[in-house]
Amino acid sequence: MQITGRQINLIYDINKEDCTYAFRNIDICLSSRELVGIMGPSGCGKSSLLYVLSGMRKPTSGTVYYDDVDIESYSINEKARIRKLKFGLIFQKHFLIEYLSVLENVMIAVDLNTEEYKDKAMDILENLKISHLAKRKPEQLSGGQKQRTAIARALMNNPEVIFADEPTASLDHNSALEVIGVLEQLKDRSTIIIATHDATILRNADRRIELWDGCAISKV
Ligand SMILES: Nc1ncnc2c1ncn2[C@@H]1O[C@H](COP(=O)(O)OP(=O)(O)O)[C@@H](O)[C@H]1O
Ligand SMILES: [Mg+2]
Repeated sequence: MQITGRQINLIYDINKEDCTYAFRNIDICLSSRELVGIMGPSGCGKSSLLYVLSGMRKPTSGTVYYDDVDIESYSINEKARIRKLKFGLIFQKHFLIEYLSVLENVMIAVDLNTEEYKDKAMDILENLKISHLAKRKPEQLSGGQKQRTAIARALMNNPEVIFADEPTASLDHNSALEVIGVLEQLKDRSTIIIATHDATILRNADRRIELWDGCAISKV
């Protein structure tokens, strides 16, 4: 899937006196199987841009297209369905459910508790080198292992596009590199978009887009 943003702007609280420009006049095109980094300091608009590109927020102006279709032509339910079936979302906070095991957390991504899905979840955990932790609860995992579990959950639906918002922000440097290594390997199958304030983790990105105060100041 190709995701294109044309002249997209997002303003929060547009009808209030203290409205905030999250980002302005962004043109962006994400093609299949590339790793794109969105960089910049805290508050520059990275998360907001991911929300708009993943259809979770409507831009104040401008248009987002999925394969040439204006996403505003989809209903809210259709957008949610596309997100569920085609996108994988990974956040700084892993949002694992504490009373479920690693395997059960990964299975949350699918509606059915079948043997087939269980095998698939175990395969993904194996690939991420945490299958031996399948029965553990999140509190018994390291930060890097928790984030790998969140990645496994995001992979259950074979996403075409993975949006990762500060996926390493709560990790130490070694765990961060490990998690980024895992994401880099997924590039053969999916488009990966990583928003981060830490440029060092984007060394192997195909492209880097730098935001400053909501504007794209450089594209490499
Ligand atoms: N829900 C919100 N309501 C109002 N302003 C917001 C909201 N979320 C973010 N902002 C503002 O939008 C700007 C961009 O924020 P954000 O996209 O979170 O940046 P980043 O992810 O780069 O830290 C900031 O000035 C932030 O304060
Ligand atoms: Mg952010």
